[in-house]
Amino acid sequence: MNLFYLEEIDSTNKYAKEHIQNLSDKTVVYTFNQTNGRGRLERKWSYLGKDNIYASVVLKPSEEMREVYSNLTQYLCVVLAQTFEEYGVEPKIKWPNDIQINSKKISGILAEGVIEKGKLEGLVLGFGINLNTKKELLDKINQPATSLNIETGEDIDKEIFLKKLLAKFCLMYDKFIETGFLLIKEEYLKRAGFLNKEISVKVFDRTVSGIAKDITDNGALRLIDKQNKEHILLIGDIL
Ligand code: BTN
Repeated sequence: MNLFYLEEIDSTNKYAKEHIQNLSDKTVVYTFNQTNGRGRLERKWSYLGKDNIYASVVLKPSEEMREVYSNLTQYLCVVLAQTFEEYGVEPKIKWPNDIQINSKKISGILAEGVIEKGKLEGLVLGFGINLNTKKELLDKINQPATSLNIETGEDIDKEIFLKKLLAKFCLMYDKFIETGFLLIKEEYLKRAGFLNKEISVKVFDRTVSGIAKDITDNGALRLIDKQNKEHILLIGDIL
């Protein structure tokens, strides 16, 4: 992978999208000073200081969109969970691609695609990882959040973490593009913290509630509601 470091930037995703034509496949745009990070569903990604990771991987697997690309966030999510585990913690996946430790969010992923005149210029897989933060800062976030230093009681070397993560990402990436979600389904399910629980999922402007039964071979969430009706959700946010 090519590493492209920026001293300071508003958003690595925004930068990667704006410069996609000049960034080659498998380039990682990263910074330790992100001033206006963006999250999923028009949310913000807070800046928690320079000892955390704010990065975007640029991928150019083909010129046309393929279904498997929407599962790349789940691939990255599994790779992230495996990297966290090397530090002795027990991460859980919250569908589709959040990672929580002790029910508190520790990383988030935002995937975006750039399409020009019907051609896929590239995919931007952005991720933020809380590695070293203070509890006071985390308390200001509007949802329960944690960081790896708090969970382990030790300072985390951000460069080493990033290196480990990217090495793991590369290992299975080509195979994942060929095979799709099935390649990682077992690894994903092992860490799925939401299964067999009553949950509510926000899908655009509606909310679907029921028991989370399974993840399909395409990475969708299978939910059964009170009327025993099945819902297969491809996108959404567990509330
Ligand atoms: C989410 O959980 O809502 C997704 C958060 C994604 C945050 C990362 S930080 C690096 C990259 N640049 C951004 O502006 N957002 C992503």
